[in-house]
Amino acid sequence: MTRWALPLVLAALLSGSCGPEAPETPPPAAPGVWFVAGEEHGYLEPCGCTRPQLGGLARKGTAVDGAPLLENGDLVRQGGRLSELKFETFLLALSEIGCVCLNIGEGDLELGIDFLKSAAGMANFPLLSANLLDEAGERIFAPTADFELDGRAVRVIGVLDPALAPGAKVADPERIVAKIIEGTAAGTEIIVLFHGPREGALRIANRERRAAAVIYAHGIGEPAVDSERLFTPGDRSRWMVRAGEVPEVIDLSEDLEDHPAMRRAMTTYVARLAREDLLARMNPMAPAEHGGYKGDAACTTCHEQEARAHHASRHARAITSLEKTGREVDPDCVSCHVTGYGQKTGFTSTLETPALARVGCESCHGPAADHIESPATHPPADARTACRSCHTEDTDPGFSFEKKWPVIAHRGPIRE
Ligand code: HEC
Ligand code: HEC
Ligand code: HEC
Ligand code: HEC
Repeated sequence: MTRWALPLVLAALLSGSCGPEAPETPPPAAPGVWFVAGEEHGYLEPCGCTRPQLGGLARKGTAVDGAPLLENGDLVRQGGRLSELKFETFLLALSEIGCVCLNIGEGDLELGIDFLKSAAGMANFPLLSANLLDEAGERIFAPTADFELDGRAVRVIGVLDPALAPGAKVADPERIVAKIIEGTAAGTEIIVLFHGPREGALRIANRERRAAAVIYAHGIGEPAVDSERLFTPGDRSRWMVRAGEVPEVIDLSEDLEDHPAMRRAMTTYVARLAREDLLARMNPMAPAEHGGYKGDAACTTCHEQEARAHHASRHARAITSLEKTGREVDPDCVSCHVTGYGQKTGFTSTLETPALARVGCESCHGPAADHIESPATHPPADARTACRSCHTEDTDPGFSFEKKWPVIAHRGPIRE
């Protein structure tokens, strides 16, 4: 049931100089609904470590259901090849679900202007920034995107808060927005995507009464509808705001089925991680401490009872949870599902270091080569506090050592 099927129209390079092109076929009756999302921070989908979890592109596609979707920036928050692949995956996927534009955030800028310019070619919607300028003071990206909603012309203006990108040349957003609105035909509805905190958006909303909505970012992470004209969709792909009528927060919950095109995009993403060997490329290979990692088999001779208990636990099979979806090649996933990824002598890949492809003894006790060499040198880590580095609020909300330790305890009750 696609309710919005208009080809979107790229914005003019100069503000206020172009309206939407006439579509070839009349638009279907649209209910005037549009969606806004933003601040994905690289989260293509929830990790699946616990249930239920909110979020993900696949549910976003289903929820949007063909209506226009505006993205307010920070698809990613850092540079590097992993973020580049994520950014491209977002662009390809969003192109399939009616995305109108992406307003560039300072996180996206971490990828570099050149990368953003070339990646933009993968999207069928424009990357916006009305106030991001090059050395010569010229705009780099389109200032606006126009689309039609229920027969009405709508213009989206994208601006960035200069305070968020001190290294870049960013013009005063209020002045730029005012100028673009001035040059926009009366009767065209205006939506401002402001990539910055609420105060700046509020100033624009108060000053520009023509703006039907001003969206902001960098809130507390959760979505907020402050008024019919001022709202933010929250971060990490967990929510959207459905607007057009009374704005309303949409939970991207398990009730929403996965959008098939988004699933395909994820499959392609995981295949690219493997093909480019991101696990090796992203591995910081920090120096090994305490002699380095040895793997569980090296402990069994002297700690048979502990080894048996550990072997029976899910920790010993943590890699299989990733293998089910091919994610054993994903640097975002392995750190908690293997032993010592990121350090020399630690896990590098399931092929090269099969003995470390699990949450092993040394995940909790620390690298133990020195200890094996001379047992009086105790293993380095305080195993009781190690749990929290993996059992976090996201992966295991409500984790309690008292409740979970008995499930995997070795040698019975622990010393207090
Ligand atoms: C050569 C035999 C030997 C091997 C191999 C060995 N250990 Fe030990 N381990 C000992 C002995 C002996 C102690 C008791 C040392 C002491 O209390 O002074 C000990 C104590 C420990 C303790 C308790 C330390 C404490 O603070 O109470 C932990 C944890 C431990 N080992 C983990 C490991 C791990 C993990 C491995 C494998 C990577 C391993 N050990 C391999 C002999 C060994
Ligand atoms: C910060 C650490 C951490 C990261 C990173 C992490 N996991 Fe997990 N994962 C866990 C923990 C802890 C559990 C066990 C949670 C529990 O038992 O409630 C788990 C469990 C799982 C399970 C088993 C769920 C079940 O109940 O069968 C899957 C599947 C999984 N993770 C997939 C992933 C994927 C995919 C990624 C990367 C996108 C990932 N994990 C990243 C810590 C992590
Ligand atoms: C999930 C984390 C975790 C894993 C994995 C783990 N341990 Fe432990 N281990 C602990 C904790 C927690 C304690 C209790 C520490 C304390 O007493 O404060 C402990 C205690 C121990 C002790 C001391 C026992 C005693 O009598 O006090 C030994 C020895 C030990 N572990 C060895 C191992 C070996 C060998 C493996 C792998 C076969 C292993 N552990 C895997 C968390 C872990
Ligand atoms: C290196 C990361 C890591 C550390 C450290 C860690 N865990 Fe886990 N834990 C996991 C992962 C990943 C799983 C899920 C394994 C799977 O099924 O894929 C898990 C699963 C479990 C489970 C099984 C889930 C269940 O409810 O049956 C228990 C219990 C558990 N952990 C307890 C602990 C405790 C207690 C500690 C600290 C002493 C600890 N873990 C430390 C990563 C970790």
